[in-house]
Amino acid sequence: MSAALTAAEIARAIDPNALESLHGKSMLLTSDWAADEIATLCQTAELFEALDRAGVKTPLFEHQLNLAVFFDASTRTKSSWAGASARLGSTPIVFDGSSTQVSHGETAEETGAMLGMNSHALGFRHDLILGEGNTFMRSAKKGIDDYLAASGSERVVPVVNLQCDVDHPTQSLADLCWLRERFGDLRGKRIAVSWAYSPSYAKPLSVPQGLITLLTRFGMDVRLAHPEGYDLIPETVEQAHRFAAESGGAFTTGGSMDEAFADADIVYPKSWGPYDLMLERVEANRRGDREALAAIEKRALERNRRHTDWICDERRMGLTNEALYMHCLPADIGAEVSAGVMDGARVDLAREANKKVYVVMALLAAAKQRNLLGILEELL
Ligand code: CP
Repeated sequence: MSAALTAAEIARAIDPNALESLHGKSMLLTSDWAADEIATLCQTAELFEALDRAGVKTPLFEHQLNLAVFFDASTRTKSSWAGASARLGSTPIVFDGSSTQVSHGETAEETGAMLGMNSHALGFRHDLILGEGNTFMRSAKKGIDDYLAASGSERVVPVVNLQCDVDHPTQSLADLCWLRERFGDLRGKRIAVSWAYSPSYAKPLSVPQGLITLLTRFGMDVRLAHPEGYDLIPETVEQAHRFAAESGGAFTTGGSMDEAFADADIVYPKSWGPYDLMLERVEANRRGDREALAAIEKRALERNRRHTDWICDERRMGLTNEALYMHCLPADIGAEVSAGVMDGARVDLAREANKKVYVVMALLAAAKQRNLLGILEELL
Protein backbone atom coordinates (compact mmCIF):
# COMPACT_ATOMS: atom_id res chain seq x y z
CA MET A 1 0.00 0.00 0.00
CA SER A 2 1.47 3.41 -0.97
CA ALA A 3 1.78 6.18 1.59
CA ALA A 4 -0.45 8.41 -0.60
CA LEU A 5 -3.17 5.76 -0.65
CA THR A 6 -2.89 5.48 3.09
CA ALA A 7 -3.43 9.23 3.34
CA ALA A 8 -6.51 8.94 1.13
CA GLU A 9 -7.88 6.19 3.29
CA ILE A 10 -7.27 8.18 6.45
CA ALA A 11 -8.98 11.21 4.89
CA ARG A 12 -12.03 9.13 3.93
CA ALA A 13 -12.41 7.95 7.52
CA ILE A 14 -12.55 11.50 8.93
CA ASP A 15 -16.01 12.96 9.55
CA PRO A 16 -15.82 16.43 7.90
CA ASN A 17 -18.37 17.90 10.30
CA ALA A 18 -16.45 16.62 13.30
CA LEU A 19 -13.27 18.20 11.95
CA GLU A 20 -15.11 21.44 11.18
CA SER A 21 -16.32 21.59 14.79
CA LEU A 22 -12.69 21.98 15.94
CA HIS A 23 -12.47 25.37 14.21
CA GLY A 24 -11.43 28.07 16.66
CA LYS A 25 -10.45 25.67 19.43
CA SER A 26 -7.38 26.15 21.60
CA MET A 27 -5.79 23.24 23.45
CA LEU A 28 -5.24 24.07 27.11
CA LEU A 29 -6.13 20.70 28.67
CA THR A 30 -7.19 17.54 26.85
CA SER A 31 -9.97 17.21 29.44
CA ASP A 32 -11.53 20.42 28.01
CA TRP A 33 -12.20 18.51 24.79
CA ALA A 34 -14.78 15.77 24.19
CA ALA A 35 -13.36 12.29 23.54
CA ASP A 36 -14.82 12.39 20.00
CA GLU A 37 -13.04 15.68 19.33
CA ILE A 38 -9.76 14.16 20.49
CA ALA A 39 -10.27 11.14 18.24
CA THR A 40 -10.87 13.46 15.26
CA LEU A 41 -7.74 15.44 16.18
CA CYS A 42 -5.71 12.20 16.21
CA GLN A 43 -7.09 11.20 12.80
CA THR A 44 -6.09 14.63 11.48
CA ALA A 45 -2.57 14.25 12.90
CA GLU A 46 -2.39 10.83 11.25
CA LEU A 47 -3.46 12.39 7.95
CA PHE A 48 -0.77 15.08 8.20
CA GLU A 49 1.81 12.38 8.94
CA ALA A 50 0.74 10.28 5.95
CA LEU A 51 0.82 13.35 3.67
CA ASP A 52 4.27 14.31 4.94
CA ARG A 53 5.62 10.81 4.41
CA ALA A 54 4.18 10.82 0.89
CA GLY A 55 5.99 14.10 0.17
CA VAL A 56 2.76 16.11 -0.14
CA LYS A 57 3.38 19.72 0.92
CA THR A 58 0.80 21.43 3.14
CA PRO A 59 1.57 25.19 3.01
CA LEU A 60 -1.79 26.27 4.41
CA PHE A 61 -0.63 29.35 6.32
CA GLU A 62 2.06 31.08 4.31
CA HIS A 63 3.37 34.43 5.60
CA GLN A 64 2.06 33.70 9.09
CA LEU A 65 3.99 33.73 12.36
CA ASN A 66 3.69 31.10 15.09
CA LEU A 67 5.10 32.29 18.42
CA ALA A 68 5.97 30.02 21.32
CA VAL A 69 7.25 31.06 24.74
CA PHE A 70 9.12 28.54 26.89
CA PHE A 71 9.64 29.15 30.61
CA ASP A 72 11.46 25.80 30.85
CA ALA A 73 13.94 23.77 28.83
CA SER A 74 12.80 21.71 25.84
CA THR A 75 14.21 19.79 22.90
CA ARG A 76 11.31 17.83 21.41
CA THR A 77 8.45 20.27 21.90
CA LYS A 78 10.35 23.33 20.68
CA SER A 79 11.48 21.50 17.56
CA SER A 80 7.99 20.06 17.00
CA TRP A 81 6.53 23.57 17.15
CA ALA A 82 9.12 24.72 14.62
CA GLY A 83 8.72 21.62 12.44
CA ALA A 84 4.92 21.87 12.42
CA SER A 85 4.99 25.58 11.58
CA ALA A 86 7.44 25.06 8.71
CA ARG A 87 5.36 22.21 7.28
CA LEU A 88 2.29 24.46 7.39
CA GLY A 89 4.15 27.23 5.54
CA SER A 90 4.38 29.53 8.59
CA THR A 91 7.42 30.94 10.37
CA PRO A 92 8.05 29.74 13.93
CA ILE A 93 9.70 31.90 16.56
CA VAL A 94 10.50 30.49 20.00
CA PHE A 95 11.19 32.90 22.89
CA ASP A 96 12.83 32.05 26.17
CA GLY A 97 10.22 33.13 28.74
CA SER A 98 12.84 34.68 31.02
CA SER A 99 13.80 37.06 28.21
CA THR A 100 10.29 38.53 28.03
CA GLN A 101 8.84 41.28 30.22
CA VAL A 102 7.00 38.59 32.21
CA SER A 103 10.23 38.52 34.24
CA HIS A 104 9.54 42.18 35.13
CA GLY A 105 5.94 41.51 36.09
CA GLU A 106 4.08 41.93 32.80
CA THR A 107 0.74 40.18 33.19
CA ALA A 108 -0.20 37.05 31.27
CA GLU A 109 -3.19 38.86 29.71
CA GLU A 110 -0.97 41.63 28.38
CA THR A 111 1.60 39.12 27.14
CA GLY A 112 -1.12 37.16 25.32
CA ALA A 113 -2.53 40.29 23.67
CA MET A 114 0.89 41.63 22.64
CA LEU A 115 2.17 38.36 21.21
CA GLY A 116 -1.15 37.38 19.67
CA MET A 117 -1.71 40.65 17.83
CA ASN A 118 1.63 40.12 16.06
CA SER A 119 1.22 36.44 15.28
CA HIS A 120 -1.20 33.77 14.12
CA ALA A 121 -0.77 31.05 16.76
CA LEU A 122 0.60 30.99 20.29
CA GLY A 123 2.25 28.21 22.27
CA PHE A 124 3.37 28.27 25.89
CA ARG A 125 5.41 26.03 28.16
CA HIS A 126 4.98 27.01 31.81
CA ASP A 127 5.23 23.83 33.87
CA LEU A 128 7.45 24.31 36.89
CA ILE A 129 5.14 25.76 39.53
CA LEU A 130 1.87 24.13 40.59
CA GLY A 131 -1.16 26.36 40.17
CA GLU A 132 0.56 28.76 37.77
CA GLY A 133 1.12 27.40 34.25
CA ASN A 134 -2.40 26.60 33.11
CA THR A 135 -3.72 29.76 34.77
CA PHE A 136 -1.11 31.79 32.87
CA MET A 137 -2.15 30.23 29.55
CA ARG A 138 -5.85 30.87 30.15
CA SER A 139 -5.11 34.51 30.99
CA ALA A 140 -2.89 34.87 27.89
CA LYS A 141 -5.74 33.45 25.80
CA LYS A 142 -8.16 35.93 27.37
CA GLY A 143 -5.74 38.75 26.50
CA ILE A 144 -5.63 37.89 22.80
CA ASP A 145 -9.34 36.95 22.58
CA ASP A 146 -10.38 40.28 24.15
CA TYR A 147 -8.09 42.19 21.79
CA LEU A 148 -9.41 40.37 18.70
CA ALA A 149 -13.04 40.88 19.74
CA ALA A 150 -12.52 44.58 20.49
CA SER A 151 -10.77 45.18 17.17
CA GLY A 152 -13.45 43.33 15.19
CA SER A 153 -10.86 40.92 13.85
CA GLU A 154 -11.94 37.56 12.51
CA ARG A 155 -8.44 36.13 12.84
CA VAL A 156 -8.19 32.92 14.85
CA VAL A 157 -5.12 32.80 17.10
CA PRO A 158 -5.22 29.41 18.81
CA VAL A 159 -3.33 28.92 22.05
CA VAL A 160 -1.55 25.59 22.50
CA ASN A 161 -0.38 24.31 25.87
CA LEU A 162 3.15 23.05 25.29
CA GLN A 163 3.27 21.76 28.90
CA CYS A 164 1.87 23.27 32.04
CA ASP A 165 1.61 22.27 35.70
CA VAL A 166 -1.50 20.13 35.02
CA ASP A 167 -1.15 18.61 31.57
CA HIS A 168 1.21 18.12 28.64
CA PRO A 169 -1.37 17.80 25.85
CA THR A 170 0.91 17.67 22.82
CA GLN A 171 2.85 14.88 24.56
CA SER A 172 -0.10 12.79 25.66
CA LEU A 173 -1.78 13.25 22.25
CA ALA A 174 1.45 12.18 20.52
CA ASP A 175 1.51 9.17 22.86
CA LEU A 176 -2.11 8.41 21.98
CA CYS A 177 -1.32 8.56 18.25
CA TRP A 178 1.64 6.20 18.77
CA LEU A 179 -0.55 3.78 20.73
CA ARG A 180 -3.24 3.90 18.03
CA GLU A 181 -0.61 3.04 15.42
CA ARG A 182 0.83 0.20 17.49
CA PHE A 183 -2.36 -1.34 18.86
CA GLY A 184 -5.33 -0.06 16.85
CA ASP A 185 -8.21 -0.59 19.26
CA LEU A 186 -7.01 0.52 22.69
CA ARG A 187 -9.96 -0.79 24.71
CA GLY A 188 -8.77 -3.10 27.45
CA LYS A 189 -5.09 -2.52 26.75
CA ARG A 190 -3.24 -2.32 30.05
CA ILE A 191 -0.74 0.50 30.63
CA ALA A 192 1.42 0.98 33.72
CA VAL A 193 2.02 4.69 34.37
CA SER A 194 4.65 4.43 37.07
CA TRP A 195 6.92 6.74 39.01
CA ALA A 196 10.62 5.98 38.45
CA TYR A 197 13.76 7.16 40.21
CA SER A 198 15.53 10.27 38.99
CA PRO A 199 18.67 11.89 40.39
CA SER A 200 18.54 14.82 37.93
CA TYR A 201 15.72 17.15 39.02
CA ALA A 202 12.23 17.22 40.53
CA LYS A 203 10.28 16.76 37.33
CA PRO A 204 6.82 18.24 36.71
CA LEU A 205 3.69 16.20 37.38
CA SER A 206 2.06 17.04 34.08
CA VAL A 207 3.10 14.01 32.03
CA PRO A 208 1.59 11.34 34.33
CA GLN A 209 -1.43 13.59 34.91
CA GLY A 210 -1.84 14.05 31.17
CA LEU A 211 -1.62 10.31 30.57
CA ILE A 212 -4.12 9.22 33.22
CA THR A 213 -6.66 11.87 32.19
CA LEU A 214 -6.39 11.05 28.47
CA LEU A 215 -5.91 7.29 28.15
CA THR A 216 -8.78 6.51 30.55
CA ARG A 217 -11.11 8.15 28.02
CA PHE A 218 -10.41 5.46 25.43
CA GLY A 219 -11.28 2.35 27.44
CA MET A 220 -7.72 1.56 28.48
CA ASP A 221 -6.82 -0.23 31.71
CA VAL A 222 -4.59 2.40 33.35
CA ARG A 223 -2.56 1.48 36.43
CA LEU A 224 -0.90 4.36 38.25
CA ALA A 225 1.91 3.44 40.68
CA HIS A 226 4.13 5.62 42.84
CA PRO A 227 5.87 5.59 46.22
CA GLU A 228 4.12 7.20 49.16
CA GLY A 229 4.30 11.00 48.97
CA TYR A 230 4.43 11.21 45.18
CA ASP A 231 0.73 11.90 44.69
CA LEU A 232 -0.59 13.75 41.69
CA ILE A 233 -2.98 16.73 41.80
CA PRO A 234 -6.09 15.14 43.38
CA GLU A 235 -8.50 16.56 40.75
CA THR A 236 -6.62 14.78 37.95
CA VAL A 237 -6.85 11.45 39.80
CA GLU A 238 -10.60 12.01 40.37
CA GLN A 239 -11.01 12.80 36.67
CA ALA A 240 -9.16 9.62 35.68
CA HIS A 241 -11.55 7.54 37.82
CA ARG A 242 -14.55 9.26 36.24
CA PHE A 243 -13.26 8.97 32.66
CA ALA A 244 -12.48 5.26 33.12
CA ALA A 245 -16.01 4.62 34.40
CA GLU A 246 -17.49 6.57 31.46
CA SER A 247 -15.38 4.84 28.78
CA GLY A 248 -15.66 1.29 30.11
CA GLY A 249 -11.95 1.29 30.93
CA ALA A 250 -10.28 0.90 34.32
CA PHE A 251 -8.14 3.05 36.56
CA THR A 252 -6.32 1.85 39.66
CA THR A 253 -3.66 3.38 41.86
CA GLY A 254 -1.05 1.53 43.89
CA GLY A 255 2.33 1.65 45.56
CA SER A 256 4.13 -1.16 43.73
CA MET A 257 5.91 -0.86 40.39
CA ASP A 258 5.95 -4.66 40.07
CA GLU A 259 2.18 -4.90 40.51
CA ALA A 260 1.59 -2.15 37.96
CA PHE A 261 3.90 -3.89 35.47
CA ALA A 262 2.29 -7.34 35.87
CA ASP A 263 0.81 -8.36 32.49
CA ALA A 264 0.98 -4.78 31.21
CA ASP A 265 0.85 -4.28 27.42
CA ILE A 266 2.56 -0.90 27.73
CA VAL A 267 4.78 0.61 30.44
CA TYR A 268 5.41 4.33 30.91
CA PRO A 269 7.82 4.70 33.84
CA LYS A 270 8.95 8.25 34.56
CA SER A 271 9.88 10.44 37.47
CA TRP A 272 8.09 13.38 39.07
CA GLY A 273 8.62 15.46 42.19
CA PRO A 274 7.30 14.76 45.72
CA TYR A 275 3.88 16.40 46.00
CA ASP A 276 4.39 18.22 49.32
CA LEU A 277 7.65 19.74 48.12
CA MET A 278 6.13 20.76 44.80
CA LEU A 279 3.53 22.62 46.88
CA GLU A 280 6.24 24.19 49.08
CA ARG A 281 7.87 25.46 45.92
CA VAL A 282 4.79 27.57 45.09
CA GLU A 283 5.23 29.95 48.04
CA ALA A 284 9.04 30.12 47.71
CA ASN A 285 8.64 30.99 44.03
CA ARG A 286 6.04 33.66 44.83
CA ARG A 287 8.54 35.27 47.23
CA GLY A 288 11.26 34.99 44.57
CA ASP A 289 13.34 33.18 47.20
CA ARG A 290 16.02 31.42 45.13
CA GLU A 291 17.78 29.99 48.18
CA ALA A 292 14.57 28.38 49.40
CA LEU A 293 13.88 26.99 45.91
CA ALA A 294 17.37 25.46 45.78
CA ALA A 295 16.91 23.95 49.25
CA ILE A 296 13.55 22.44 48.24
CA GLU A 297 15.12 20.95 45.11
CA LYS A 298 17.90 19.41 47.22
CA ARG A 299 15.33 17.86 49.58
CA ALA A 300 13.34 16.54 46.60
CA LEU A 301 16.39 14.76 45.21
CA GLU A 302 17.21 13.36 48.68
CA ARG A 303 13.63 12.07 48.85
CA ASN A 304 13.99 10.52 45.38
CA ARG A 305 17.13 8.68 46.54
CA ARG A 306 15.01 6.59 48.94
CA HIS A 307 13.46 4.93 45.90
CA THR A 308 16.37 3.99 43.63
CA ASP A 309 14.80 0.54 43.19
CA TRP A 310 11.98 2.11 41.12
CA ILE A 311 13.72 1.42 37.81
CA CYS A 312 12.38 -0.07 34.60
CA ASP A 313 14.89 -2.88 34.04
CA GLU A 314 14.97 -6.25 32.31
CA ARG A 315 13.55 -8.07 35.36
CA ARG A 316 10.55 -5.75 35.51
CA MET A 317 9.96 -5.90 31.77
CA GLY A 318 9.84 -9.66 32.25
CA LEU A 319 6.73 -9.23 34.42
CA THR A 320 4.83 -7.63 31.55
CA ASN A 321 2.99 -8.95 28.54
CA GLU A 322 6.05 -8.18 26.34
CA ALA A 323 5.16 -4.55 26.93
CA LEU A 324 5.91 -1.59 24.72
CA TYR A 325 8.22 0.76 26.65
CA MET A 326 7.25 4.44 26.40
CA HIS A 327 8.77 7.64 27.75
CA CYS A 328 8.22 11.30 26.91
CA LEU A 329 12.04 11.81 27.05
CA PRO A 330 14.58 12.72 28.14
CA ALA A 331 14.91 9.65 30.38
CA ASP A 332 17.52 9.25 33.11
CA ILE A 333 19.37 6.16 31.88
CA GLY A 334 20.54 3.98 34.77
CA ALA A 335 17.91 5.53 37.07
CA GLU A 336 14.45 5.67 35.47
CA VAL A 337 15.37 2.94 32.99
CA SER A 338 18.24 0.49 32.55
CA ALA A 339 20.63 1.01 29.65
CA GLY A 340 19.56 -2.32 28.16
CA VAL A 341 15.82 -1.54 28.13
CA MET A 342 16.55 1.91 26.75
CA ASP A 343 18.74 0.52 23.98
CA GLY A 344 16.03 -1.87 22.87
CA ALA A 345 13.44 0.93 22.76
CA ARG A 346 15.47 3.73 21.18
CA VAL A 347 13.88 3.65 17.72
CA ASP A 348 10.37 3.21 19.08
CA LEU A 349 10.91 6.19 21.38
CA ALA A 350 11.96 8.35 18.45
CA ARG A 351 8.84 7.28 16.56
CA GLU A 352 6.71 8.13 19.61
CA ALA A 353 8.36 11.56 19.88
CA ASN A 354 7.93 12.21 16.14
CA LYS A 355 4.13 12.12 16.51
CA LYS A 356 4.23 15.48 18.28
CA VAL A 357 5.01 17.47 15.13
CA TYR A 358 1.83 16.10 13.48
CA VAL A 359 -0.24 16.72 16.60
CA VAL A 360 0.82 20.37 16.58
CA MET A 361 0.06 20.60 12.84
CA ALA A 362 -3.39 19.13 13.43
CA LEU A 363 -4.12 21.46 16.37
CA LEU A 364 -3.14 24.58 14.44
CA ALA A 365 -4.74 23.62 11.13
CA ALA A 366 -8.02 22.39 12.64
CA ALA A 367 -8.33 25.57 14.70
CA LYS A 368 -7.50 27.97 11.87
CA GLN A 369 -8.65 26.49 8.55
CA ARG A 370 -12.28 26.03 7.55
CA ASN A 371 -12.98 23.12 5.20
CA LEU A 372 -9.62 21.65 6.20
CA LEU A 373 -10.54 18.15 5.07
CA GLY A 374 -11.59 19.34 1.61
CA ILE A 375 -8.36 21.30 1.22
CA LEU A 376 -6.17 18.38 2.29
CA GLU A 377 -8.06 16.03 -0.01
CA GLU A 378 -7.38 18.40 -2.89
CA LEU A 379 -3.67 18.34 -2.05
CA LEU A 380 -3.81 14.55 -2.31
N1 CP B 1 8.82 15.24 26.12
C1 CP B 1 9.07 16.55 25.97
O1 CP B 1 8.17 17.37 26.14
O2 CP B 1 10.33 16.83 25.64
P1 CP B 1 10.99 18.28 25.72
O3 CP B 1 10.97 18.67 27.19
O4 CP B 1 12.37 18.10 25.18
O5 CP B 1 10.16 19.23 24.92
